[in-house]
Amino acid sequence: MKIGDLSIDNPVFLAPMAGVTDHAFRVICRSMGAGVVYSEFVSSEGIIRENQKTLDMMNFTEDERPIGIQIFGHNPEVVGKSAKLIRERFNPDIIDINYGCPVPKVVKKGAGSGALRDLVLMEDITRSVVENAGDIPVTIKMRAGIDNNTTVAIEAGGLLENCGARAITLHPRSMKQLYTGSANWELIKELKNAVNIPVIGNGDIQNASDAMRMFDETGCDGVMIARATQGYPWIFRSIKNQMDGQSTQPITISDKIRMCLTHFKLIRQERNDFLSLNLTKKHFSWYLKGFPEAVRWRKKFVRAESIQETEVLLKELFRHFLIDYPNDNSEPQDI
Ligand SMILES: Cc1cc2nc3c(=O)[nH]c(=O)nc-3n(C[C@H](O)[C@H](O)[C@H](O)COP(=O)(O)O)c2cc1C
Repeated sequence: MKIGDLSIDNPVFLAPMAGVTDHAFRVICRSMGAGVVYSEFVSSEGIIRENQKTLDMMNFTEDERPIGIQIFGHNPEVVGKSAKLIRERFNPDIIDINYGCPVPKVVKKGAGSGALRDLVLMEDITRSVVENAGDIPVTIKMRAGIDNNTTVAIEAGGLLENCGARAITLHPRSMKQLYTGSANWELIKELKNAVNIPVIGNGDIQNASDAMRMFDETGCDGVMIARATQGYPWIFRSIKNQMDGQSTQPITISDKIRMCLTHFKLIRQERNDFLSLNLTKKHFSWYLKGFPEAVRWRKKFVRAESIQETEVLLKELFRHFLIDYPNDNSEPQDI
């Protein structure tokens, strides 16, 4: 699959997720075979104000490539300027525009899925980003429409293609639907038939079989996964194996525990104690599932009051399951 001139080995994408797809998680997903990874969505206003926290969200390392930085905003000039800054300072492989976020604070002004209400504004924003992105391909991620009676994704697809977008990801739920009901994959198929640029299908893929079914049923060029990667980055390997007709070894308790340590080390390389504590609580709660005593261990980590306590618990977890704890100064292990 190609997006502009960018060749993608494995057409299985890690979806952008605020609060989840930071450097640590992206590195893990790439090492598991994700074909492309995305940053969390980043505010174009914050970017052009050069807010340090906002700029920090866009740092990445070479091993994450190909990587897309996703931006949102309602003012075409501002969003365009933010694309220029991203190109000059970060040079990612893709700049993605978010027309899917349903959060009222974002939608109110016309950003995120708010742009689905005003396709002229959507075109202006997209053109401005394409003009400022230079050689970097611009992609779109959008929902289907505002509510189930007003699906605009197919019409928007043609307009976005004309504006110079190089691929479109569709999460075929409406803005108002949030995460209720199910994603209407039929719309992915319709979009694929309506445009000449690659279409990436997204929504409700929970395992490798679902991914294969989405390819078959919609004819999409790639698939993108969000929630099913939480605590299970192995999904990328499992899909790749299924595509290659190979079987996948089941993930063991030991795999999950080792992944907690890998993730812990990656988080500690870049986060302060407070953020490390919160992030490890979140990710460990996702990893530590599906085995006897998982609930007890989740509770222990959630109650930890410091990152030092988390590290002690992690060592205890290794001992309890009779797994050797690598020596303290080893790098995040090869996964
Ligand atoms: C915690 C969380 C954060 C998300 N943040 C973003 C985001 O920053 N940008 C975006 O385009 N979509 C975001 N999404 C939506 C996902 O990228 C995806 O479109 C949606 O979850 C449907 O895919 P899934 O069924 O595989 O989860 C987020 C979803 C979740 C669960």
